[in-house]
Amino acid sequence: MKKYPPLVPKIPHMIHGGDYNPDQWLADKDVIWNEDMRMAKLAGINSLSVGIFSWTALEPEEGVYDFTWLDEIMDKMAANGITAILATPSAARPAWMSQKYPEVLRVNERREKQLHGGRHNHCLSSRIYRDKVRQINALLAERYKDHPALGAWHISNELSGECHCPACQENFRLWLKEKYGTLDALNAAWWTSFWSHTYTDWSQIESPSPIGEQSVHGLKLDWKRFTTEQFVKWYDIETEPLKRITPDIPCTTNLMGIYEGINYYRLAERMDFACWDSYPQWENTMNDVSIAQFFSFEHDLTRGLKDGQPFLLMESCPSATNWRPYPRLHRPGVHLLQSMQAVAHGSDSVQYFQFRKSRGSSEKLHGAVVDHCGHEHTRVFDQIAQVGQQLKTMDAIVGTTAPARVALVYDWENRWALEDAQGFNNVDKKYVDTVMDHYAALWSLGVSVDIVDQTRDFSGHDVLVLPFSYMLRGDFARRVEDFVQNGCTLVTTYGTGWVDEHDLCFLGGFPGPLTDTLGIWEEEIDVLMPGMENSAQFRGKTYKLTDYASLLHAKTARVLAEYDSDFYAGMPALTVNDCGKGQAYYVAGRFGADFLKDFYAGLCAEKNIPAHELPEGVTAATRTDGTHDYVFVMNFTPCDRTVTLSGRDFATGEELSCFTLPPHGWRILVKEA
Ligand code: GLA
Ligand code: ZN
Repeated sequence: MKKYPPLVPKIPHMIHGGDYNPDQWLADKDVIWNEDMRMAKLAGINSLSVGIFSWTALEPEEGVYDFTWLDEIMDKMAANGITAILATPSAARPAWMSQKYPEVLRVNERREKQLHGGRHNHCLSSRIYRDKVRQINALLAERYKDHPALGAWHISNELSGECHCPACQENFRLWLKEKYGTLDALNAAWWTSFWSHTYTDWSQIESPSPIGEQSVHGLKLDWKRFTTEQFVKWYDIETEPLKRITPDIPCTTNLMGIYEGINYYRLAERMDFACWDSYPQWENTMNDVSIAQFFSFEHDLTRGLKDGQPFLLMESCPSATNWRPYPRLHRPGVHLLQSMQAVAHGSDSVQYFQFRKSRGSSEKLHGAVVDHCGHEHTRVFDQIAQVGQQLKTMDAIVGTTAPARVALVYDWENRWALEDAQGFNNVDKKYVDTVMDHYAALWSLGVSVDIVDQTRDFSGHDVLVLPFSYMLRGDFARRVEDFVQNGCTLVTTYGTGWVDEHDLCFLGGFPGPLTDTLGIWEEEIDVLMPGMENSAQFRGKTYKLTDYASLLHAKTARVLAEYDSDFYAGMPALTVNDCGKGQAYYVAGRFGADFLKDFYAGLCAEKNIPAHELPEGVTAATRTDGTHDYVFVMNFTPCDRTVTLSGRDFATGEELSCFTLPPHGWRILVKEA
């Protein structure tokens, strides 16, 4: 079992810090900046991310630069033992640039040219913007390459959106030519004979639009893939000067969990480590359990992007997240719990947005380390300082992995294709919900899960969970078959194996290339309207199901449960097929949490995968260095929870076997691995 080196080599500890915008305080910098350094140290902060939206402060006029303020704050940070995660400023532009070079502005899908304003709205193909970014990034790298504070590069900010301008259209056509070679191949892949949509010249191809093409799903899918490639290219453009001038400084960009617009598995291939911005809105009700499950999933997803390497929690909110519908305060203890949750799932940091609250504009009411009162005597600051204290004790956990024997597939391309399909439940396809159903069951059992997409290697795992995998692409189905043949277990669901990577339906019956592995034929799928339900008996218990019921024929598979009602009563609701040395399950209906928990508890017992009996709302997540397991036991409910689990308490050394966690309480147990 390997331990990874620190992600930011200059900080061989848990990182504690966040976004810091000293350029918003230039008028009072002599007072404010010194106060900031003093309070950062008080909070146990060892890193600050600077320069994220600083382009105008760095280049107030075209070609006129002012790095003096950044020099000064970088020096102050170095003097105070605070490492800089230094950003490239491309996420927001100076007004002079948009004014002088309107081509840098985006065009939206309705073909409307955007005005200057906001952020994240630049064209991804603009030559001028690319040049300007290369230039400012090279200047930053040259200037700070030997600076003792420089720890890592933060590329832009939350890359997102898309541009439909003529230059992006042209790049899209070039990308398609490269991919398909001939128009005939493209027309065949996109099934354009439908509605007379056959293209007879490359120049006729336009990105999808609500005022144009919406019906050719192959086109829409390729546009999404192309947009991802635009961001990969963008990332390469940004990092080229940084990699050249500062080859030892790692580069990353802050991701957003399951943000739909970019296939992060592709983008992450370029990143030195993954990081993300996490904003759960805790309610202090039992709803917090599903919120916790979803955010645990996103942490695991981020870790999976770099195949298990630790990641950074790049932003989180220490208090009220002002853009949420109901910006609730974090109840006492919640901030520490959400911070430990990130670490439990593989984060080597806790960082915030932001250090000092902006005085004006749209984020002036967003939770921050330092509030408008300007001092550290606040409830929120105390809670942040507690996190700082806690992280200081956790050096041993830095670089440890969170290995899992279960892999669960979350696939961006499958999501794009499925959500675009006209069919299934058109109000909400429930792809993410289905993924979460299965993840949540494993979470409740404290079973670690690695999240992979269809391109990643899962052959080292024992169980592959493949929820609602409508699209099967590349050699994935073949690798799944090998996996099962070799003695592992596949669990898949309704709606799997309908289309290939071009979004063309498999002919000859679903689940297409997984038919032999699963030993079934899925003939149709019934959509249950809200309020409707069916049920099935499994191991002597009755379990309800909603939303979807696939109508299956078992070929070689054994039927483990059958539908109780409707015209398909008696048809299989759950099957298992022996395939080589392994087994493949098909969960045909959308069963609830009760079924999935019982089902996975049984499967884990059979496969000898450690699972725990935990009270509702409590989970256990493990990091290990191969010698010691660090088991984070966390209570996400507003109630006391008594847990039976043994180990040595990380903080006190006390041997425990049964203990009570208060509301939002947690403990780390140490065990021999
Ligand atoms: C995002 C951004 C930050 C800030 C926060 C507010 O994560 O990256 O700049 O706007 O949201 O929650
Ligand atoms: Zn463009």
